[in-house]
Amino acid sequence: MSGIEFNRRLSGIPIYPAASTYEHSGDLVKLSSNETPWGPQRQVIAAIQDQLETLNRYPDPDKSVMRRAIADRTGVPPARVAVGNGSCEILMAAGEALLEPGAELVHAWPSFSMYPHLAAQSGATAVRVPLDAHGRHDLDEMARQVTVATRLVVICNPNNPTATALPVEAIDAFVAGLPRRVAVILDEAYVEFNMLQDPDDSLDLLPRHPNLVLLRTFSKVYGLCGLRAGYALCSEQFRLAVDRVRQPFSVSTLAQAAAAEAIRHQDEVERRVEMTAIERLHLEMELEERGLDTTDSQANFAWVSLGERDEAAVVKGLAERGVIVRSGAALGQEGAMRVTYGARRENDRFLAALDEVL
Ligand SMILES: Cc1ncc(COP(=O)(O)O)c(C=O)c1O
Repeated sequence: MSGIEFNRRLSGIPIYPAASTYEHSGDLVKLSSNETPWGPQRQVIAAIQDQLETLNRYPDPDKSVMRRAIADRTGVPPARVAVGNGSCEILMAAGEALLEPGAELVHAWPSFSMYPHLAAQSGATAVRVPLDAHGRHDLDEMARQVTVATRLVVICNPNNPTATALPVEAIDAFVAGLPRRVAVILDEAYVEFNMLQDPDDSLDLLPRHPNLVLLRTFSKVYGLCGLRAGYALCSEQFRLAVDRVRQPFSVSTLAQAAAAEAIRHQDEVERRVEMTAIERLHLEMELEERGLDTTDSQANFAWVSLGERDEAAVVKGLAERGVIVRSGAALGQEGAMRVTYGARRENDRFLAALDEVL
């Protein structure tokens, strides 16, 4: 039976490795998607509710209130703030605006599972540079892989799934060594959780590097992943390019209102970062006692080495006990698992299930 004829690129596009949570039911502990255990705060819910009766109107295509709020927080003018339906949308739009057959994209691996999509969707070539032995980006090797065909380099800092972070100074030197025609996206989805540096340190790189894009999200520390809102701090040229390739109304009225309100509450961000750090220490200590190594996490999740243990059996055994984590194999490296830090009760359920499985 003949079916619809799709374009040739389609079969090369990887299928997003969604967490298996959605297949399970019952009292689950979901530590699989690097979400936060806290819902939106009261003022954010009120800002969403305020907009409910306007939903017969399209969202503001300029996203002006949201962009202004981000500008107020970061000091980057609104003309240089692009916002998207999650930071993923900006990433995909960047791929569309920058890449094409014959062009190259350089990114580390294992890293965020959407990067391979950028190349596959545009027909460009992805150049994957393995992480170093500590699960960090190998910037020297990434620099060596940049050719005349390179249009885009993506650095994930802190990196998903290994949770490691590079110092801003190293990224500064790396970008300075690249030709300015090459766009560099510094994906900072987890930047607020980085204890090694002030999350605002990378903002200082923007005036020095017009080809640099800082990509951030409301999905992680702000706890708004269900609404979809992210942003890029970038040149005006980059913002206009990503706006040009997308539909104008991609960021919903509710997402715009929620994001604009959430970013005003940096005290709440700090509180969440602190609570996450406490859970990080707790889990790291408990895992160490069980003989399990973790990388130096600067994010809201742990990357746990399983050594010789059967990774698939561990992840399955946890799921059978209602605890959902991500298997390393699904994220690009076997023999590991990625565990999001949850609330204390959730983390302790994970540890109890792990004891049974091991
Ligand atoms: C490194 C990284 N970048 C971007 C995202 C996407 O976030 P958003 O929800 O903003 O699309 C994620 C989500 O897991 C991520 O891990």
